[in-house]
Amino acid sequence: MKPITIIEPFKIKSVEPIRFTTREEREKILSDAGYNPFMIHADDVLIDLLTDSGTSAMSAKQWAGIMEGDEAYAGSKSFYRFEDAVRKITHMKYIIPTHQGRAAEKILFSIVGGPGKYFPNNTHFDTTRANIEFTGAEAEDLLNEIGKHPEQRADFKGNMDVEKLEAFIKEKGVENIPLCMMTVTNNSGGGQPVSMQNIRDVKAVCKEYGIPLFLDACRFAENAYFIKKREKGYSNKSVLEIAQEMFSYADGATMSAKKDALVNIGGFLALNDEELAMKCRNLLIVTEGFPTYGGLAGRDLEAVAQGLEEVVDEHYLEYRIRSVEYLGERLVAANVPIIEPPGGHAIYIDAKRFLPNLSPDQYPGQSIVCELYLEGGVRAVEIGSVMFGKYDKNGKLIPAMMELVRMAIPRRVYTQSHVDYLIEIILEVFKNRNKLNGYKIVYEAPMLRHFTARFQPLK
Ligand code: F0G
Repeated sequence: MKPITIIEPFKIKSVEPIRFTTREEREKILSDAGYNPFMIHADDVLIDLLTDSGTSAMSAKQWAGIMEGDEAYAGSKSFYRFEDAVRKITHMKYIIPTHQGRAAEKILFSIVGGPGKYFPNNTHFDTTRANIEFTGAEAEDLLNEIGKHPEQRADFKGNMDVEKLEAFIKEKGVENIPLCMMTVTNNSGGGQPVSMQNIRDVKAVCKEYGIPLFLDACRFAENAYFIKKREKGYSNKSVLEIAQEMFSYADGATMSAKKDALVNIGGFLALNDEELAMKCRNLLIVTEGFPTYGGLAGRDLEAVAQGLEEVVDEHYLEYRIRSVEYLGERLVAANVPIIEPPGGHAIYIDAKRFLPNLSPDQYPGQSIVCELYLEGGVRAVEIGSVMFGKYDKNGKLIPAMMELVRMAIPRRVYTQSHVDYLIEIILEVFKNRNKLNGYKIVYEAPMLRHFTARFQPLK
């Protein structure tokens, strides 16, 4: 018999207690934090779903690697182990460590960006967009139409619109597009995967115009697992083989190891172009460190190398993707509106449909985020008009395209009973949705306001 229960493919060797608070305590904590969960002390949170980045639980072998770390300034043994591990998956020639994903982006776009340049992507993650725009270049999102509809199900909602890409290249001019990126999985679009066929099609267009293709590979293993499960011709291939094929179409990659390398800090830039690699290394020395450590300790490189081996384990990925899907299924069964189907690393509540009576300038996503905390000590994050809203000339809010609440699931951290508790809390908040207030912003910074904004509930 093949058991149908998918279990956590690990036993727990070390535990970290979580702190329970009463609703009364949480009311005070939230009000002191200006109704912004970013301002809450993590110790006052019971289940923390702010991000899946840097929050993974490391394995015993990764911790052992931490002790093995070689801290030589140059030529550290740990660097070569790291380089081998990254090369095994990417087959890229030049592997450059960085302290996290955005450091790899900063180096890459400082060199290839600049005014008059354009960078297409399925959807740029915020830091990628910011690093491009910081150089004076422009970042363009070319997501397929279906990816923009939270309520519609499709297997690969992270795909790029290939026709739009070709039109974009013709409009802006090949000479102004130093590279094209694809984010796997597409974080900002709900953690939705990109199909191998789409990577191949995008590559074909890039090749025709001589434009290098780069992967933003933070969640490459989750993407590869979706391909194995959903795309014809891949069910008998290993996740490692699928990942290798994904990278085979790319000329380079940036990665935040804080996601699919199962570590708390780290990242890299992987390249095939020797001249570009030399320029990147020269800048790395100024900003991050010598090319064999790039802003990391030797022990961090060991942990990344080990994590990259563990993340392509299919028992791990089955548990990982299934636990997110399980949460999604239970919410859908209770009619809670979410982005469907569930993505790889997070569930995104569609706050517009959850709270149809609140307008974007009453910040429905923020309202849900606050209530999740009050109800159960759960910390999620608004991804809507608080995060992406802008103002017109008259100070009127220009809302974001979607009003979402992201609940990102840290890797190997929570068990099924944590998820069951989470489901109970969300369903309770949903049941009482007619009682939820909107919020107004009473303080905001000129940029990236969501981190430090302060709110007040509307009565
Ligand atoms: N690219 C993607 C797709 C990401 O999701 C992130 C980080 C980065 C790049 C930047 O990497 O944080 O190591 O500098 N995403 C985190 C999140 C912060 O919560 O989604 P970093």
